Amino acid sequence: MGSSSSPAPAIKRLEGKVALITGGASGIGKCTARLFVCHGAKVIIADVQSELGQKVCTQIQSEYGETITYINCDVTKETDVEKAVNTAISLHGKLDIMFNNAGTFGTYDPSINELKYENFKKVMDLNVYGGLLGAKHAARVMIPEKKGCILFTASCAAVLYGNTPYAYTASKHAVVGVTKNLAVDLGGYGIRVNCISPTAVVTPMTATLFHAEKVVEEVTSAMASLKGVKVDANDMAEAALFLASDESKFVSGLNLVVDGASHLRNSASSTVVSS
Ligand SMILES: NC(=O)c1ccc[n+]([C@@H]2O[C@H](COP(=O)([O-])OP(=O)(O)OC[C@H]3O[C@@H](n4cnc5c(N)ncnc54)[C@H](O)[C@@H]3O)[C@@H](O)[C@H]2O)c1
Repeated sequence: MGSSSSPAPAIKRLEGKVALITGGASGIGKCTARLFVCHGAKVIIADVQSELGQKVCTQIQSEYGETITYINCDVTKETDVEKAVNTAISLHGKLDIMFNNAGTFGTYDPSINELKYENFKKVMDLNVYGGLLGAKHAARVMIPEKKGCILFTASCAAVLYGNTPYAYTASKHAVVGVTKNLAVDLGGYGIRVNCISPTAVVTPMTATLFHAEKVVEEVTSAMASLKGVKVDANDMAEAALFLASDESKFVSGLNLVVDGASHLRNSASSTVVSS
Protein backbone atom coordinates (compact mmCIF):
# COMPACT_ATOMS: atom_id res chain seq x y z
CA MET A 1 0.00 0.00 0.00
CA GLY A 2 2.59 2.57 -1.13
CA SER A 3 4.82 2.26 1.91
CA SER A 4 8.26 1.35 0.61
CA SER A 5 11.17 3.63 1.40
CA SER A 6 12.97 5.34 -1.46
CA PRO A 7 16.75 5.39 -1.90
CA ALA A 8 18.40 8.71 -0.99
CA PRO A 9 17.99 11.04 -3.99
CA ALA A 10 20.98 12.71 -5.61
CA ILE A 11 19.35 16.11 -5.11
CA LYS A 12 17.20 16.76 -2.06
CA ARG A 13 14.41 18.91 -3.42
CA LEU A 14 13.05 20.07 -0.06
CA GLU A 15 16.31 20.58 1.86
CA GLY A 16 15.80 23.06 4.69
CA LYS A 17 12.03 23.23 4.30
CA VAL A 18 9.46 22.60 7.01
CA ALA A 19 6.22 20.82 6.10
CA LEU A 20 3.02 20.14 7.99
CA ILE A 21 0.92 17.31 6.54
CA THR A 22 -2.62 16.67 7.72
CA GLY A 23 -3.89 13.12 7.45
CA GLY A 24 -0.24 12.07 7.43
CA ALA A 25 -0.72 8.91 9.48
CA SER A 26 -2.11 6.95 6.55
CA GLY A 27 -2.39 6.56 2.79
CA ILE A 28 -1.40 9.48 0.56
CA GLY A 29 -0.39 11.64 3.53
CA LYS A 30 1.92 8.97 4.90
CA CYS A 31 3.60 8.39 1.52
CA THR A 32 4.05 12.15 1.16
CA ALA A 33 5.55 12.46 4.65
CA ARG A 34 8.07 9.74 3.78
CA LEU A 35 8.99 11.29 0.41
CA PHE A 36 9.31 14.79 1.90
CA VAL A 37 11.63 13.48 4.63
CA CYS A 38 13.60 11.61 1.97
CA HIS A 39 14.02 14.97 0.20
CA GLY A 40 15.34 16.72 3.28
CA ALA A 41 12.21 18.34 4.75
CA LYS A 42 11.45 18.56 8.46
CA VAL A 43 7.97 17.04 8.62
CA ILE A 44 5.16 17.25 11.14
CA ILE A 45 2.27 14.84 10.74
CA ALA A 46 -1.08 16.12 12.02
CA ASP A 47 -3.76 13.47 12.37
CA VAL A 48 -6.39 12.03 14.70
CA GLN A 49 -4.91 8.52 14.70
CA SER A 50 -2.30 9.06 17.41
CA GLU A 51 -1.00 5.54 17.80
CA LEU A 52 -0.66 5.04 14.06
CA GLY A 53 0.81 8.52 13.58
CA GLN A 54 3.52 7.88 16.19
CA LYS A 55 4.28 4.53 14.60
CA VAL A 56 4.64 6.10 11.16
CA CYS A 57 7.04 8.70 12.59
CA THR A 58 9.18 6.03 14.25
CA GLN A 59 9.22 4.04 11.01
CA ILE A 60 10.19 6.98 8.78
CA GLN A 61 12.76 8.17 11.32
CA SER A 62 14.41 4.76 11.34
CA GLU A 63 14.52 4.72 7.52
CA TYR A 64 16.06 8.18 7.04
CA GLY A 65 17.55 9.09 10.42
CA GLU A 66 15.63 12.37 10.33
CA THR A 67 13.34 13.64 13.06
CA ILE A 68 9.68 13.61 12.15
CA THR A 69 7.02 14.75 14.58
CA TYR A 70 3.45 13.64 15.21
CA ILE A 71 0.83 15.99 16.58
CA ASN A 72 -2.74 15.06 17.42
CA CYS A 73 -4.90 17.45 15.45
CA ASP A 74 -8.52 17.29 14.39
CA VAL A 75 -8.51 19.62 11.39
CA THR A 76 -12.15 20.55 11.94
CA LYS A 77 -11.15 22.20 15.25
CA GLU A 78 -9.51 25.58 14.82
CA THR A 79 -7.63 25.43 18.11
CA ASP A 80 -6.04 22.12 17.04
CA VAL A 81 -4.97 23.52 13.66
CA GLU A 82 -3.63 26.67 15.27
CA LYS A 83 -1.64 24.53 17.71
CA ALA A 84 -0.25 22.35 14.90
CA VAL A 85 1.01 25.38 12.98
CA ASN A 86 2.44 26.87 16.18
CA THR A 87 4.22 23.58 16.83
CA ALA A 88 5.96 23.84 13.45
CA ILE A 89 7.12 27.34 14.38
CA SER A 90 8.28 26.41 17.88
CA LEU A 91 10.12 23.29 16.67
CA HIS A 92 11.62 24.59 13.45
CA GLY A 93 11.13 28.36 13.43
CA LYS A 94 9.01 28.46 10.27
CA LEU A 95 6.48 26.72 8.06
CA ASP A 96 7.23 26.45 4.34
CA ILE A 97 4.69 23.86 3.21
CA MET A 98 1.17 23.26 4.49
CA PHE A 99 -0.39 20.15 2.94
CA ASN A 100 -4.13 20.01 3.69
CA ASN A 101 -4.65 16.38 2.84
CA ALA A 102 -6.91 14.91 5.56
CA GLY A 103 -10.24 13.87 4.13
CA THR A 104 -13.09 11.44 4.14
CA PHE A 105 -15.29 9.85 1.51
CA GLY A 106 -18.23 9.83 3.91
CA THR A 107 -20.91 7.24 3.41
CA TYR A 108 -21.25 5.71 -0.04
CA ASP A 109 -24.50 7.20 -1.30
CA PRO A 110 -24.16 8.09 -4.98
CA SER A 111 -27.92 8.30 -5.38
CA ILE A 112 -29.47 11.72 -4.77
CA ASN A 113 -32.26 9.89 -2.91
CA GLU A 114 -29.78 8.90 -0.23
CA LEU A 115 -28.61 12.44 0.48
CA LYS A 116 -28.39 13.00 4.24
CA TYR A 117 -27.52 16.27 5.95
CA GLU A 118 -25.44 14.63 8.71
CA ASN A 119 -23.13 12.97 6.19
CA PHE A 120 -22.99 16.08 3.98
CA LYS A 121 -22.00 18.25 6.92
CA LYS A 122 -19.38 15.80 8.17
CA VAL A 123 -17.75 15.54 4.73
CA MET A 124 -17.82 19.30 4.08
CA ASP A 125 -16.54 20.10 7.58
CA LEU A 126 -13.53 17.85 7.16
CA ASN A 127 -12.72 18.11 3.46
CA VAL A 128 -13.44 21.82 2.99
CA TYR A 129 -13.54 23.70 6.28
CA GLY A 130 -10.68 21.63 7.75
CA GLY A 131 -8.53 22.49 4.74
CA LEU A 132 -9.50 26.15 4.93
CA LEU A 133 -8.46 26.25 8.58
CA GLY A 134 -5.11 24.82 7.55
CA ALA A 135 -4.77 27.54 4.90
CA LYS A 136 -5.83 30.25 7.35
CA HIS A 137 -3.24 29.37 9.97
CA ALA A 138 -0.53 28.65 7.42
CA ALA A 139 -1.18 32.07 5.87
CA ARG A 140 -0.93 33.66 9.35
CA VAL A 141 2.72 32.59 9.59
CA MET A 142 3.61 32.68 5.88
CA ILE A 143 2.36 36.21 5.10
CA PRO A 144 5.02 37.97 7.24
CA GLU A 145 7.68 35.83 5.51
CA LYS A 146 6.31 36.75 2.08
CA LYS A 147 6.62 33.15 0.90
CA GLY A 148 5.12 29.71 1.38
CA CYS A 149 3.36 26.85 -0.28
CA ILE A 150 -0.14 25.62 0.51
CA LEU A 151 -1.37 22.35 -0.99
CA PHE A 152 -4.68 20.53 -0.86
CA THR A 153 -5.74 17.06 -1.85
CA ALA A 154 -8.84 17.37 -4.00
CA SER A 155 -9.90 14.33 -6.05
CA CYS A 156 -10.69 13.10 -9.53
CA ALA A 157 -14.28 13.44 -8.21
CA ALA A 158 -13.77 17.15 -8.91
CA VAL A 159 -13.38 16.48 -12.64
CA LEU A 160 -15.14 13.16 -13.27
CA TYR A 161 -18.87 12.65 -12.81
CA GLY A 162 -21.22 9.91 -11.73
CA ASN A 163 -20.96 7.17 -9.12
CA THR A 164 -19.38 9.35 -6.45
CA PRO A 165 -21.45 10.57 -3.50
CA TYR A 166 -22.84 14.10 -3.72
CA ALA A 167 -21.20 15.21 -0.49
CA TYR A 168 -17.77 14.03 -1.63
CA THR A 169 -18.16 15.49 -5.13
CA ALA A 170 -19.33 18.82 -3.72
CA SER A 171 -16.50 18.91 -1.20
CA LYS A 172 -13.78 18.22 -3.74
CA HIS A 173 -15.14 20.81 -6.19
CA ALA A 174 -15.05 23.22 -3.27
CA VAL A 175 -11.42 22.31 -2.58
CA VAL A 176 -10.49 23.20 -6.17
CA GLY A 177 -12.44 26.46 -5.80
CA VAL A 178 -10.78 27.51 -2.57
CA THR A 179 -7.37 26.58 -4.01
CA LYS A 180 -7.89 29.03 -6.86
CA ASN A 181 -9.35 31.71 -4.61
CA LEU A 182 -6.43 31.41 -2.19
CA ALA A 183 -3.92 31.48 -5.05
CA VAL A 184 -5.27 34.88 -6.08
CA ASP A 185 -5.74 36.12 -2.51
CA LEU A 186 -2.29 35.11 -1.24
CA GLY A 187 -0.26 35.53 -4.43
CA GLY A 188 0.62 39.09 -3.45
CA TYR A 189 2.43 37.70 -0.41
CA GLY A 190 4.50 35.28 -2.51
CA ILE A 191 2.46 32.30 -1.34
CA ARG A 192 1.68 29.61 -3.90
CA VAL A 193 -1.51 27.56 -3.56
CA ASN A 194 -2.21 24.39 -5.55
CA CYS A 195 -4.11 21.15 -5.28
CA ILE A 196 -3.73 17.58 -6.44
CA SER A 197 -6.61 15.50 -7.77
CA PRO A 198 -5.70 11.84 -7.43
CA THR A 199 -7.33 8.99 -9.23
CA ALA A 200 -8.41 6.07 -7.01
CA VAL A 201 -5.34 4.51 -5.40
CA VAL A 202 -5.12 1.87 -2.70
CA THR A 203 -5.23 3.39 0.79
CA PRO A 204 -7.22 2.41 3.89
CA MET A 205 -9.95 4.78 2.66
CA THR A 206 -10.43 3.11 -0.71
CA ALA A 207 -9.74 -0.41 0.56
CA THR A 208 -12.78 -0.03 2.83
CA LEU A 209 -14.87 1.57 0.13
CA PHE A 210 -14.14 -0.90 -2.65
CA HIS A 211 -13.85 -3.88 -0.26
CA ALA A 212 -10.60 -5.09 -1.86
CA GLU A 213 -7.33 -3.54 -3.00
CA LYS A 214 -7.54 -5.47 -6.27
CA VAL A 215 -10.86 -3.81 -7.14
CA VAL A 216 -9.36 -0.35 -6.65
CA GLU A 217 -6.52 -1.21 -9.02
CA GLU A 218 -8.88 -2.72 -11.60
CA VAL A 219 -11.22 0.28 -11.55
CA THR A 220 -8.34 2.76 -11.82
CA SER A 221 -6.75 0.89 -14.67
CA ALA A 222 -10.08 0.53 -16.54
CA MET A 223 -10.81 4.25 -16.18
CA ALA A 224 -7.41 5.50 -17.33
CA SER A 225 -6.76 6.45 -20.93
CA LEU A 226 -3.09 5.83 -20.23
CA LYS A 227 -2.49 2.10 -20.23
CA GLY A 228 0.35 -0.03 -18.91
CA VAL A 229 1.15 2.13 -15.89
CA LYS A 230 0.57 0.91 -12.35
CA VAL A 231 -0.30 3.80 -10.08
CA ASP A 232 -0.25 4.01 -6.29
CA ALA A 233 -0.22 6.54 -3.46
CA ASN A 234 3.48 7.22 -4.04
CA ASP A 235 2.59 8.82 -7.37
CA MET A 236 0.41 11.32 -5.51
CA ALA A 237 3.30 12.00 -3.14
CA GLU A 238 5.52 12.70 -6.18
CA ALA A 239 2.95 15.23 -7.44
CA ALA A 240 2.96 16.87 -4.00
CA LEU A 241 6.77 16.93 -4.05
CA PHE A 242 6.78 18.76 -7.38
CA LEU A 243 4.26 21.34 -6.14
CA ALA A 244 6.07 21.78 -2.81
CA SER A 245 9.53 22.16 -4.36
CA ASP A 246 11.06 25.25 -5.91
CA GLU A 247 10.85 23.50 -9.28
CA SER A 248 7.24 24.71 -9.41
CA LYS A 249 8.11 28.21 -8.17
CA PHE A 250 5.81 29.96 -10.69
CA VAL A 251 2.97 27.42 -10.47
CA SER A 252 -0.02 28.61 -8.47
CA GLY A 253 -3.77 28.04 -8.70
CA LEU A 254 -3.28 24.68 -10.38
CA ASN A 255 -5.41 21.57 -9.93
CA LEU A 256 -2.88 18.88 -10.84
CA VAL A 257 -5.01 15.93 -11.94
CA VAL A 258 -3.07 12.69 -11.57
CA ASP A 259 -5.40 10.22 -13.27
CA GLY A 260 -3.82 8.99 -16.51
CA ALA A 261 -6.38 11.10 -18.43
CA SER A 262 -9.33 9.18 -16.96
CA HIS A 263 -11.47 12.30 -16.76
CA LEU A 264 -11.02 13.00 -20.46
CA ARG A 265 -12.93 9.84 -21.35
CA ASN A 266 -16.66 10.50 -21.19
CA SER A 267 -17.53 6.88 -20.60
CA ALA A 268 -15.03 6.41 -17.81
CA SER A 269 -17.23 7.19 -14.84
CA SER A 270 -19.68 4.42 -15.67
CA THR A 271 -17.03 1.82 -14.89
CA VAL A 272 -16.82 2.82 -11.22
CA VAL A 273 -18.67 0.37 -9.02
CA SER A 274 -18.94 0.12 -5.27
CA SER A 275 -19.91 -3.49 -4.71
N1 LIG B 1 -7.16 7.15 -1.98
C1 LIG B 1 -7.74 7.64 -3.05
O1 LIG B 1 -8.02 6.94 -4.02
C2 LIG B 1 -8.07 9.09 -3.14
C3 LIG B 1 -8.49 9.59 -4.37
C4 LIG B 1 -8.79 10.94 -4.47
C5 LIG B 1 -8.64 11.76 -3.36
N2 LIG B 1 -8.23 11.24 -2.18
C6 LIG B 1 -8.09 12.15 -1.04
O2 LIG B 1 -6.80 11.96 -0.48
C7 LIG B 1 -6.81 12.36 0.87
C8 LIG B 1 -6.15 11.28 1.71
O3 LIG B 1 -6.94 10.12 1.64
P1 LIG B 1 -6.34 8.64 1.71
O4 LIG B 1 -6.89 7.91 0.57
O5 LIG B 1 -4.89 8.70 1.92
O6 LIG B 1 -7.13 8.10 2.99
P2 LIG B 1 -6.65 7.54 4.39
O7 LIG B 1 -7.90 7.17 5.09
O8 LIG B 1 -5.58 6.55 4.22
O9 LIG B 1 -6.00 8.84 5.09
C9 LIG B 1 -6.77 9.89 5.58
C10 LIG B 1 -6.14 10.37 6.87
O10 LIG B 1 -6.90 11.50 7.33
C11 LIG B 1 -7.00 11.39 8.72
N3 LIG B 1 -8.12 12.18 9.23
C12 LIG B 1 -9.44 11.86 9.16
N4 LIG B 1 -10.16 12.79 9.81
C13 LIG B 1 -9.28 13.70 10.30
C14 LIG B 1 -9.42 14.89 11.05
N5 LIG B 1 -10.62 15.34 11.44
N6 LIG B 1 -8.30 15.58 11.37
C15 LIG B 1 -7.07 15.13 10.99
N7 LIG B 1 -6.89 14.01 10.27
C16 LIG B 1 -7.98 13.30 9.94
C17 LIG B 1 -7.18 9.90 8.97
O11 LIG B 1 -6.94 9.55 10.31
C18 LIG B 1 -6.21 9.31 7.99
O12 LIG B 1 -4.94 9.14 8.57
C19 LIG B 1 -8.27 12.63 1.21
O13 LIG B 1 -8.50 14.02 1.15
C20 LIG B 1 -9.03 11.93 0.11
O14 LIG B 1 -10.29 12.49 -0.13
C21 LIG B 1 -7.93 9.93 -2.05
